[in-house]
Amino acid sequence: MIIETARRTKQTSEYYFSVKLAEVRKLIAEGHDVINLGIGNPDMMPSEATLEALSSAILKPNAHGYQSYTGTPAFRNAIADFYDHNYKVNLDPSSEILPLIGSKEGITHISLTFLDPGDEVLVPELGYPAYRAVSQMVGGVVKEYPLQEENGWQPDWEAMETLVSDKTKIMWLNYPHMPTGAPATLELFENAVAFAKKHQILLCHDNPYSLILNKKQPISLLSVEGAKEVAMELNSMSKSHNMAGWRMGWLAAAKPYINAVLTIKSNVDSGMFWAMQEAAVAALHNADEWHAERNAVYQGRLEASEALLSMLGCTWDPKQEGMFLWGKLPDSVESAEKLVNETLVEKHVFIAPGFIFGPKGQRYIRLSLCLPKERIWEAVERIGG
Ligand SMILES: Cc1ncc(COP(=O)(O)O)c(C=O)c1O
Repeated sequence: MIIETARRTKQTSEYYFSVKLAEVRKLIAEGHDVINLGIGNPDMMPSEATLEALSSAILKPNAHGYQSYTGTPAFRNAIADFYDHNYKVNLDPSSEILPLIGSKEGITHISLTFLDPGDEVLVPELGYPAYRAVSQMVGGVVKEYPLQEENGWQPDWEAMETLVSDKTKIMWLNYPHMPTGAPATLELFENAVAFAKKHQILLCHDNPYSLILNKKQPISLLSVEGAKEVAMELNSMSKSHNMAGWRMGWLAAAKPYINAVLTIKSNVDSGMFWAMQEAAVAALHNADEWHAERNAVYQGRLEASEALLSMLGCTWDPKQEGMFLWGKLPDSVESAEKLVNETLVEKHVFIAPGFIFGPKGQRYIRLSLCLPKERIWEAVERIGG
C-alpha cells in the first residue's frame, strides 16, 4: 500500500534536469566521458579571501549554533555595500535585506507570502521553471506573458495590459534573462515599475546574472525611482561568486515586504551557518578585478560555444549576457529534442533543449559556460567529427 500524495504533486512534474541528468550519470557509469553543457553550475572557485574567511570562522567556538533568521549584521551590511557598489542602490541593512538559502527558495517564500488560491501570476513564457511550478503549487493561476525574439525578449507592455485582471497579484521578471541572455535595461525596468504601480501588482525581479559577462554597468530593478513601493529583488551568490553549492542569496525589498516574507520563512527554516555568513562578507567585497578575471574566463568559453553553435548551423544574438549561450536552430534540424538526444547518445555531449524553459523555446538550445574552454572545444570536435 502507498499513501496518496497531495494534489499539488500531480501538477508539478519532476525537474527536467533531475530526469535528464540521471541519463547522463548512467552513461558516465557505463564508462563514457560525457561533456555536460546542460546545467549552469559554476565550476570555478570562490575567491581566496572567501575560503580563508570560512576556514578561520569554522574554528570559532560560537560558530556552530542556531543563527538569527535575518542573518548577521555583518552579512546584511556586506549585501548593502554590494548593492551600493555595483548598482548604486541604497538598502537599509537593518530592514531591507533578508538572507535566503539560495534565491530559489525565495521564489517559494514570496509565493507563500503573497498568493491566495486563485490569485493570478504573470510568468514569462520562457524562463526559469520554478516561477510557474511554485505559483501552481500554492494554488496560483499562471498567466504566461509573451516574449518575442524580435522585441529583444522583453515584455510587450501593450500586450501585457490584456493579461491583467483584478486577480493579478505578482509579476515575475528576470534580466539579464535566463535562458535567452537578453540584457537588462533601465527603460525596461522603468516600464515594469510603471506597469506594476498602475495595476497594483507585486513585481518580483530575479537578478542572479547581472555580473556575468555584462557589457555595461550592472543594474538592479530597485534603482528605478519609487520601485520599492511595488518591487522586490532576489539576488544570489551562486553564479556571481562561484558559490552555488553554498546556497546563499537574499531578498532586497522595503521593510513591510521583508517582514511579511520573514513571517512565513521563519516557520520553514532557520538562519544559515555563521561561518558561511562570515565567508560571504569576504566574497561580497571581492574586488572588481576578481569579477573581471572570472568574466575573462567565461569570455574564452563563450568563444568556444559560439564555434559550437556555428558548427550546428545555429544563429545567436551577440548582445547576450549571463552564463549561457542561447542559439536558434536552423530549419534543417528537425527538432531540439532529436538533436539533444543524438548528441548525447552518439557524441556524449549534453546540451539543454530550449523547450524546457517553455514551449516558445522549441527551436532553440542553451549552452552552459560552466566548463573549461578546452572541454567546449572538445565538444566542437566531437560534434564536427
Ligand atoms: C533565473 C534563475 N533564478 C534563480 C536561480 C536559482 O539560483 P540559486 O542558486 O540562488 O537558488 C537560477 C539558477 O539556475 C536561475 O537561473
